[in-house]
Amino acid sequence: MTKPLRLGIAGLGTVGVGVLRIVRKQSALLTARTGRAIVISAVSARNRDKDRGVPITGYDWEDNPVELATRDDVDVFVELMGGADGPAKAATEAALKAGKDVVTANKAMLAVHGQALAELAEGAGRVIRYEAAVAGGIPVIKSLMEGLAGNEITRVMGVMNGTCNYILTRMQSSGLSYDEVFEEANKLGYLEADPNLDVGGIDAGHKLSILASIAFGTRVAFDAMELEGIGRITIEDIRQAADMGYRIKLLGVSRMTGRGLEQRMSPCLVPCASPLGQLEGGTNMVVIEGDSVGQIVLRGAGAGEGPTASAVMADVCDIARGLRLPVFGQPAAGLKQATPAVSATPAAFYLRMALQDKPGALAKVAAVLGQNGISINRMRQYDHDETTAPVLIVTHRCVRADLDRAIGAMAETGVVEGEPVALRIEEV
Ligand code: NAP
Ligand code: HSE
Repeated sequence: MTKPLRLGIAGLGTVGVGVLRIVRKQSALLTARTGRAIVISAVSARNRDKDRGVPITGYDWEDNPVELATRDDVDVFVELMGGADGPAKAATEAALKAGKDVVTANKAMLAVHGQALAELAEGAGRVIRYEAAVAGGIPVIKSLMEGLAGNEITRVMGVMNGTCNYILTRMQSSGLSYDEVFEEANKLGYLEADPNLDVGGIDAGHKLSILASIAFGTRVAFDAMELEGIGRITIEDIRQAADMGYRIKLLGVSRMTGRGLEQRMSPCLVPCASPLGQLEGGTNMVVIEGDSVGQIVLRGAGAGEGPTASAVMADVCDIARGLRLPVFGQPAAGLKQATPAVSATPAAFYLRMALQDKPGALAKVAAVLGQNGISINRMRQYDHDETTAPVLIVTHRCVRADLDRAIGAMAETGVVEGEPVALRIEEV
């Protein structure tokens, strides 16, 4: 029998404890499937005395994750602490330099430092695996990198933040406001320590930037992503969208266009009857389109102890079996620096604004849209109060840059109260 594969696990929170449980409970299964025992040599976290609901006395303890990462009895460093920088990055770099393979669930670190870490790993002949970093338990990295390796990928999109999908679908089903449901999600413990990572679209943007790199052979470019969170979505938006046969989703879309790489994470309208429109609660969905395969849809739990640890263990098993792939599917040195293409693909837009309720106000807004080449498809005024009239406009297909110019010009008409909300209607 081949020698055991020895893990060093840094981070014993939700995901780390899940990994300990699988290694303990499924030891025979893991050995049968990989041909070797998978064992834990040592663990690290901040607080040694914390009760983690699973025994850790059988493993050596390291206070410092860098020390853990470089131990002689560790073959694979499993990084489950989180954070783009700090101990996660320091220990990952130390592990690679010490000749260890790395498994991580850390999308923030890969989105920000993915290229440098990939070059370091490949220069040292090591692998970094990160199935758990995108869409939790859904094997999306494996699907893109291996199952669809023979395809030119044309589009990757999906709902990749369960918390936002919970908030939006709960608003829909309960009729509660954004603030009320946000508070509910907070009480349920769904929000990250910094909630803006969720509702600001950053967490989902990290995930999409990683998928885009694999799909299009480009360097991870999170800083080039168009990012917009869900904080301005009102219950009225949810209702108006539903009236027109749509649901609002925090949707990530990436595609290679003639003008460069389009990457955006923003609230969009999708048809109610589409698989994305039907996605409820904290579930994730990733849709991948390839020239030969057509469209495939992957759906499942995007977070939580079991699903995320399942993905970590899939990576550990691949390393145990001897599977060694470049970090982003092709050698890091050859990944292209993509030109960012800001919303190059035209779409219809949902536009909500509050107009002063006085003669000529609507005409001024319509004129500004027309002057910027934007044609109105549908329009509705609803629920007037004494001084303002909420107006909803659905445009014909246009490019976002033209719409943004029109929105900028609307401020100068003196008839629009506050900032209009513009949501793309995505063709899915
Ligand atoms: P968590 O519950 O907050 O656990 C973090 C762990 O890291 C804790 O055990 C903590 O120690 C330890 N830690 C933090 N700083 C440390 C340091 N300086 N030295 C040693 N240990 C340190 O986090 P999590 O939810 O398990 O997430 C872990 C990673 O998985 C993150 O990258 C996250 O983005 C990713 N992820 C999580 C999920 C999910 O559903 N939770 C899903 C997908 C991906 P103490 O316990 O002693 O405080
Ligand atoms: N905050 C994330 C979510 C956790 O809600 O999907 C998994 O990355």
